[in-house]
Amino acid sequence: MSTLWVGTSWKMTKTLAEGRAWARGLREHLAGRTPAGVQPFVIPSFTATTAVAEELGEDSPVLLGVQNAHWEDAGAWTGEVSVPQAKDAGARIVEIGHSERREHFGETVETTRRKVAAALRHGLTPLLCIGESAAVKEAGGSSGFILEQAGGALDGLTADELSRVVIAYEPIWAIGETGRPATVEELVDPFAALGAEYSGKVTGLLYGGSVNLDNAAGLLGIEHVTGLFVGRTAWQLEGYLELLRIAAEHAGS
Ligand code: PGA
Repeated sequence: MSTLWVGTSWKMTKTLAEGRAWARGLREHLAGRTPAGVQPFVIPSFTATTAVAEELGEDSPVLLGVQNAHWEDAGAWTGEVSVPQAKDAGARIVEIGHSERREHFGETVETTRRKVAAALRHGLTPLLCIGESAAVKEAGGSSGFILEQAGGALDGLTADELSRVVIAYEPIWAIGETGRPATVEELVDPFAALGAEYSGKVTGLLYGGSVNLDNAAGLLGIEHVTGLFVGRTAWQLEGYLELLRIAAEHAGS
C-alpha cells in the first residue's frame, strides 16, 4: 500500500513560541523514526518556518511546508514569498490553491497551475488543494468540478512531474468551524473520480476537511485515499500524534 501522508496546516495561527513547542514535542515523540508507512508533514505560517525547521532538526522525518508561494522566483511582488525563498527557509512542500486562498485572495486555476510549475521547477512537492462548494455539490457537480480544478492546475506536466504532486481533496462545505464533517458515503464518488484519473500517477491523494479522531480511520479506509490533511484537530500536538497513530495502524493493517 502507498505511504500515508498525514499533515497539518496551521493556517494563520500560533506564535513562534507555540510553533516551537509543537515542533519540539513532535521531534521528541518521533525520536528520529518515521512511523512505519506514514509520511508526516507540517505547514506553519511563514513567520514560523525557520523556527519549526530548527526544532524539527536536520534529517527530520517530518516534511516542512509553506501555505503559499509565488510563481516567480524573485522580483517586485510586495507581500509575496517565492519558492526559492521557501526552500531556503527549509520548506519541501508548497501548499497551493487552498479554498480560503481561492475565495479570499483571488487564487485561480491559472495561478495554481503556475505555482505547481514553480514548486516542481525547484524540486519542492506541490500540495494542490481542490474542492467544491456546497452549491456545486447540491447540483451534483462535485466530481466534474474537482477534476477540472486538478486538470487545469496539472495541465502539461510530464508523467515524472506529475508523480511528484500531492493532491488534497478538501470540499469547502466540510472545512473549518462552519463546515460539517463529510461522511464516508459522500466521499466515495469524488475519490473514485480522482482515483481513476490520478491513482498511481501522483505521490498521494489526501482528504481534508473536519478530520477528527473519530472519523480519521474511516476516511483512510476510502478507496484511493492515501492520507489526511488536517487543520484544527492537529493544532494541538496530542491530536496530531493521535492521527499519526491511527494512520500507522491503518498502514499496518
Ligand atoms: P479543518 O481544516 O481540519 O480545520 O476543517 C482543513 C483544511 O482547511 O485543510
